[in-house]
Amino acid sequence: MIHKVIHLAPSILAADFARLGEQVADAEANGADLIHIDVMDGRFVPNISMGVVVVEAVRRVTSLPLDVHLMIVEPATHIEAFAHAGANRITVHYEADNHLHRTLTTIKELGCMAGVAINPHTPALALEAILPFVDQVNVMTVNPGFGGQHFIPEMMSKIAEIRAMIGNLRRDIGLQVDGGINPQTAMSVAQAGANILVVGSAVFNPQFSVAEGIARMRKALATTPV
Ligand code: DX5
Ligand code: ZN
Repeated sequence: MIHKVIHLAPSILAADFARLGEQVADAEANGADLIHIDVMDGRFVPNISMGVVVVEAVRRVTSLPLDVHLMIVEPATHIEAFAHAGANRITVHYEADNHLHRTLTTIKELGCMAGVAINPHTPALALEAILPFVDQVNVMTVNPGFGGQHFIPEMMSKIAEIRAMIGNLRRDIGLQVDGGINPQTAMSVAQAGANILVVGSAVFNPQFSVAEGIARMRKALATTPV
């Protein structure tokens, strides 16, 4: 099933941090739907990126919803701080939390949408029991930790599987894909059922402007039969 509306969520992991405010403003002015913020702790993933202060700073420069992707161990310890910093959506990893239901409930009590992300090795079926409590799923299409990696094509069937599971539930659950999404891969993930495309280096890239990056993504998606 192809969604009529595909949301683009530029990931600031690939942005120029020396001019982050400008880059986020550019994304908003050129039609981004969400701002995706990748939080990494050097433990759940082998890289350290950004934390609460960056969410607060981005909150001050955009009215777009902030989509915070926590690639951290024990995410429940930090969700209140991220919610207070201005996150609108908070996604935790299935693999990082033994008490997902409690964590998702807390995220929602804090007024945010609650998401669950799954690594490439985690099967769609792992989500079966928790899906009724989720507002969005993030299917990692690379191993989390770094931007600019290659899309893992075997994830395509998992996207379709989760889209079917969401269809069976008859609930409006967002289906994100994250990693290696660019004008070449956009159409196929949308066809598989993704409706929120996280895009790092295909939007924030020293080779071209944010406006060009977003325009190329929209053009690639416009050719998707609806
Ligand atoms: C990877 C992050 C992604 C990353 C995507 O661990 O979760 O959001 O920024 O970057 P690209 O689009 O460059 O693969
Ligand atoms: Zn991400």
